[in-house]
Amino acid sequence: MCGIIGYVGDKDAVPVIIDGLKKLEYRGYDSAGIAVYGKNGFDIVKQKGRLVVLEERLSSLMRENKPLSGHLGIGHTRWATHGEPSDINSHPHTGSKNRIAVVHNGIIENYKQIKERLENRGVTFVSQTDSEVIAQLAEHYYSGDIIDTVIKVSNALEGSYALGVMCIDEPDLLVAIKKDNPLIIGKSNHGNFIASDVPAVLKHTNQVYYLNDREVAVLHEKDIQFFNTDREPLQKKAETITWSMDSAEKDGYPHFMLKEIMEQPKVLRDTIQSAVTDGENRKVLDNIDIIRFDKIMITACGSAYNAGVVAKYVFEKLCRISVEVELASEFRYKDAVINEKTLVILVSQSGETADTIAAMREAKSKSAPTLAIVNVVGSAIAKEADYCIFTAAGPEIAVATTKAFSAQLILLYILAIRFARRLGKIQPEEEQKQIEEIKSLPDKVSEILDRIGSIQMYASTCIGYKSIFFIGRNIDYAIALEGSLKLKEISYIHSEAYAGGELKHGTISLVEENTLVVALSNYYYLYNKIMSNAEQVISRGAKVLLIGNCPKVDQESGKFYHIVLPQVSEIFSPSLSVIALQLFSYYVAANKGLDIDKPRNLAKSVTVE
Ligand code: G6P
Repeated sequence: MCGIIGYVGDKDAVPVIIDGLKKLEYRGYDSAGIAVYGKNGFDIVKQKGRLVVLEERLSSLMRENKPLSGHLGIGHTRWATHGEPSDINSHPHTGSKNRIAVVHNGIIENYKQIKERLENRGVTFVSQTDSEVIAQLAEHYYSGDIIDTVIKVSNALEGSYALGVMCIDEPDLLVAIKKDNPLIIGKSNHGNFIASDVPAVLKHTNQVYYLNDREVAVLHEKDIQFFNTDREPLQKKAETITWSMDSAEKDGYPHFMLKEIMEQPKVLRDTIQSAVTDGENRKVLDNIDIIRFDKIMITACGSAYNAGVVAKYVFEKLCRISVEVELASEFRYKDAVINEKTLVILVSQSGETADTIAAMREAKSKSAPTLAIVNVVGSAIAKEADYCIFTAAGPEIAVATTKAFSAQLILLYILAIRFARRLGKIQPEEEQKQIEEIKSLPDKVSEILDRIGSIQMYASTCIGYKSIFFIGRNIDYAIALEGSLKLKEISYIHSEAYAGGELKHGTISLVEENTLVVALSNYYYLYNKIMSNAEQVISRGAKVLLIGNCPKVDQESGKFYHIVLPQVSEIFSPSLSVIALQLFSYYVAANKGLDIDKPRNLAKSVTVE
């Protein structure tokens, strides 16, 4: 879950690397470091804390007339797994002889064995990290050929890694290799890059190579070579990134999260376009023969899992096919009952979430065809799944997902409608009607965004709550899960989501004065039931925020506040509810003055178990 970058070129590597790290900070932000090949060999600065702490240190070195500078360098932003966040545990790591410097994203599972072996040979380790073994082992193997050394190290490592490596005998050379963690190679007119993700290099180039597992990249200022681990040359084709730098900038918004919330109408339009007209997604959808399947299994993590829970209601309603939703971290170990007649749908913004990748491989090992819904082109899941359709969300920087989640929902709806038609559960006219309604969603989302001020005002009154519960019934319950997750991850207010009918089976005992209950209500036939849940909590001292397109309630008493949503069919209502829920969470967190884009302890791309 860390971010790595490397550069070799004619520019000073320091500002290039620091700027790239800023774009990768979403991957982890408890410490950061940089190594450049300076006049006298490696110059390394690494600091616990946000990237800004590292920047301050670099500025003070500059003031002391000891600036870091060089044309080859590597950088790292960390989300600690082994060893607490500290200066010493930060990357880059070097071997004891200071001959090889390494940045690493991933987890080395056999690091203890390697460490013990090297310690027995007299090597002294200075950090508590698993990553240091990579640098120490590389120095142990090194006998003049750094490319062979990297291959040998890779052969010895178990676990996941994306590595950037510099060697003291090679002032113009950067070597990279990866396994189960992402790494792209960027080619620009002033030099070449390695990076965990495209935004880190986008300012310099839109030409990138996606490195596959155990491929070695060897970068000089003017050329890039690829090898397999037998050191045979590989031919790879650069891909052109079509999105622009703007997507990776805040564009005047105080946070990426708000910018990304506001982008949703466009993201939805683009995603719908690609799936219902003649876009690439449409072609993939047309190739999936749903009639072969008697069950759908959706598996994912975090918000992507919540999108799956919504989808279960939609698929079951429209397709009358049995759907299970499993957290990928559970699915991978549960010996799921699936076979070639089960379609396994994987949902993932990054396409790199370790548990979701493992779930995909588990499904494949049981002969179940896999369909992925992914945002990041070139990601592991996108490459390995049997079928893949892409959300057109562009890069999502805020750790808490918003636009990618909304795009996932849209693709899941379209999938359900297409499958329902193919299964003969709906007629062509009904299919067309549903698609037209999907097409109307972006405008309805805009309507809610136009009323941002009232949600902001209400949210500003909610920062004092110790607990906020979310309730809903049916699909409103599914989207309540996402509302609750969004709130807790960025505002640090305790929150749970419950099916309205479950409230009385335990949770209501937690309801007291100074509790807020957010009730979702988009079902006319369940309106009275959710309202009676609301009355039950109000009579125990709670306040209720009602979100939905159900009849407007009387707000005079001050016990209710109602965010009224545009009218839409019940099954598509999550696409509108979620906008109000995102804005509510965002403004609660903003009013608390929190670091919304980088909530504590979290990272966007969870590439470790
Ligand atoms: C992290 C992110 C969430 C995301 C989840 C799954 O927890 O903070 O926003 O939903 O990972 O990530 P994925 O990339 O697989 O969608």
